[in-house]
Amino acid sequence: MTSLFTKVSPEPTTDAGVRRITVSINGNQHTVDVEPRLLLAHLIRQGLDLTGTHTGCDTTHCGACTVLFDGTPVKSCTMFAVQAEGHEITTVEGLATASELHPIQESFKDEHGLQCGFCTPGMMLTAKALLDENPDPTEDEVRWALSGNLCRCTGYQNIVKSVLAAAARLRSQGATDEEEGETS
Ligand code: FES
Ligand code: FES
Repeated sequence: MTSLFTKVSPEPTTDAGVRRITVSINGNQHTVDVEPRLLLAHLIRQGLDLTGTHTGCDTTHCGACTVLFDGTPVKSCTMFAVQAEGHEITTVEGLATASELHPIQESFKDEHGLQCGFCTPGMMLTAKALLDENPDPTEDEVRWALSGNLCRCTGYQNIVKSVLAAAARLRSQGATDEEEGETS
């Protein structure tokens, strides 16, 4: 059990006390003590040092803090950490394995889907949720899915190309896995 209380909030500022919660992040269980007012984004970044989740606006506008909450993209600056009790959170650190980038990450790299990279973790996780549900989206569907994530560098064109390329890569990977399954 980790006490995040002193790490993210040296002094309690409310009388509401501290709550103990258990959250799964990228498949690892974390039992932590937090103040009820602590935002999920701050638990992830300051509390657990998973700094791939960025915070830009803190007001639900930019999408830089997007994580997957039981597979659904949410803006983690808009949720309290206590709401994640018992749920599965995926951050950008959960996409790659120790030796391999996720196909979405590969595609962002190949298609130049990022410049400064600030919006990129949120874009990738939103893209993952889309492609998990719709493996062959149209360009319009990609643009609609990403409409809650703002980028101030790329003009979006290459981000959309990256997501479409990731979709193709994942489909071909799925087809290869199926063929190998049939021949083994
Ligand atoms: S930091 Fe959460 S939406 Fe901008
Ligand atoms: S790459 Fe800079 S904000 Fe999107």
